[in-house]
Amino acid sequence: MKPSTIAIDGPAASGKSTIGYHLSRYLAYLYLDTGVLYRAVTWAALDRGIPIADETAITHLAEELHIDVTPPTETDGRQYTVRVEGCDVTWAIRTPEVDAAVSPVSAYPGVREALTRRMREIAALGRVVMVGRDIGTVVIPDADMKLYVIASAEERAHRRQLEMQTKGERQAYDDVLASLQRRDKIDSNRKAAPLKAAPDAIIFDNTELTIEEMLKRAERLVDGLDPA
Ligand code: CDP
Ligand code: CDP
Repeated sequence: MKPSTIAIDGPAASGKSTIGYHLSRYLAYLYLDTGVLYRAVTWAALDRGIPIADETAITHLAEELHIDVTPPTETDGRQYTVRVEGCDVTWAIRTPEVDAAVSPVSAYPGVREALTRRMREIAALGRVVMVGRDIGTVVIPDADMKLYVIASAEERAHRRQLEMQTKGERQAYDDVLASLQRRDKIDSNRKAAPLKAAPDAIIFDNTELTIEEMLKRAERLVDGLDPA
């Protein structure tokens, strides 16, 4: 039997959302990239001028903010549309400014509590692929299948830089690498739901794999054809 709930975790730019989105289409499941919820709260804080260091105000924002994630409303390469209070922020939540502030925001326990609650409501419906940092460890520890996706930091920075270039944004390789490593460090060392593999997760290293090879392997894993 195919897994009904699939949890995909791993560090920044490791290939989680490429795998998650593909599997959701392959299986006709709902797809939720949970990073967008943390990014949406961070974007709203920056937009409203709320200091990132103000834990009380940021937590309140996470509890009150109206965030919608729906199937894509534009054909511009997006996997979904994200709205904050009705405003389309799908691309706005991917700027270097949000990248720099999202990990501190995500480390606040109250923020995690508010967003985890929303994630669990969605997961309870089943037939879902959920991507993030703590999905297999905290959000749905009873998921039917857990993947922990990794690739070397250099390869991840190279891929993220290429991805930014195709969107017309230029950032030096060293800056991209430093930003990824900074986020990984905060995400892995925070007290609340740190980034780590669940003991029963399949470690999926794709450093040496093309996207096609990686997605084939992901299909074989959910089909039970690959012993992992
Ligand atoms: O796409 P990328 O891997 O660069 O990041 P993301 O998945 O959009 O997540 C952005 C940030 O949100 C992460 O660096 C974490 O700080 C936070 N996050 C989290 O703490 N827990 C999750 N389940 C998902 C994201
Ligand atoms: O979701 P996460 O941040 O973990 O990573 P992603 O957005 O799925 O992948 C980051 C970038 O690496 C994207 O541009 C992917 O197309 C690319 N990628 C790649 O070139 N080769 C792979 N084997 C996996 C991802």
